[in-house]
Amino acid sequence: MNQDEVICSCLNVTRGMIKEAVNNGAKTFAEVQEATEVGTVCGACVEDVEKLIAELTSK
Ligand code: FES
Repeated sequence: MNQDEVICSCLNVTRGMIKEAVNNGAKTFAEVQEATEVGTVCGACVEDVEKLIAELTSK
């Protein structure tokens, strides 16, 4: 996974930032959103972020 890949272009949130939020204890989209503000502008990234969180939390 490319950690620097921007998953939310509105807020420049990268995959690495989502991973960090999960590593810091966030388990749901709402918790990751609280930590990163991801998906709070246009919402287009929400599905991708949810998939990524599912991937990260299933390990
Ligand atoms: S791309 Fe994430 S809120 Fe727009």
